[in-house]
Amino acid sequence: MFLVFKDPQAVAQFVSERLVQLIKDKPEAILGLATGSTMEPVYERFCQDAKAQGLDVSKITSFNLDEYIGLSSEHPQSYHYYMNKFLFDHLDFAKHQTFVPDGTPEDVELHCEQYSQKIADYGGIDLQLLGVGGNGHIGFNEPGTPFESRTHVIDLSDQTRIDNGRFFDSMDEVPKRAITMGMKDIMEAKQILFIATGPNKAQVVADLYASDYDEQMPASMLKKHPDTLFIIDEKAAAQLPPDAYQVMV
Ligand code: F6R
Repeated sequence: MFLVFKDPQAVAQFVSERLVQLIKDKPEAILGLATGSTMEPVYERFCQDAKAQGLDVSKITSFNLDEYIGLSSEHPQSYHYYMNKFLFDHLDFAKHQTFVPDGTPEDVELHCEQYSQKIADYGGIDLQLLGVGGNGHIGFNEPGTPFESRTHVIDLSDQTRIDNGRFFDSMDEVPKRAITMGMKDIMEAKQILFIATGPNKAQVVADLYASDYDEQMPASMLKKHPDTLFIIDEKAAAQLPPDAYQVMV
């Protein structure tokens, strides 16, 4: 069942309220964070709400979903850079507790293994934010990624590279590979907020609704997660049958 909000701002308000409440209840919460256009209004609203309420985020630990291979943390299109720009630099996050996969590790396999291990060592993710790609990817787990996977290197699909090409000056600059948290790491999060907004997500939302539990539609894994909210806006809901969603006011 999808929860449909009027627009991305209403989605952001709802998600921000959930984040604020979690952090009030558990100041040392472990967050799973995502990047991308979908999350920009979410982080903007969260920063506003956190500041207005004097929320202490200094005890938070966070794990990001993914990073492009080959981009250093200073690269403006890296997800390290994105997180600092849209979230970490605005609040009193303890930077050494904000983990993002390293896009330029010496030993990439070891780095992947250690990333999943570190999430487990911290006791697992309390709340995971997820966007969705036009092909159903979550994190950068492209269609066909095993549901049992841990953090790994992925070849980005042509569709993902084209979709994300909008952030780069030319297609040649769009990385071909990324490191992503695995499907199983995501599935182990205690709570998941799946978020899709805008007309470009209407098709994938309808495909997800129609899909079985199927590795070709990565987001369909969430149908078996015990505590996932599917949060979308009216434009992303445009191709859903009316009985597939509940309108939120
Ligand atoms: C980003 C990520 C991706 C994006 C997805 C949607 O960390 O994990 O799965 O959430 O590609 O991106 P936007 O929000 O830009 O449409």
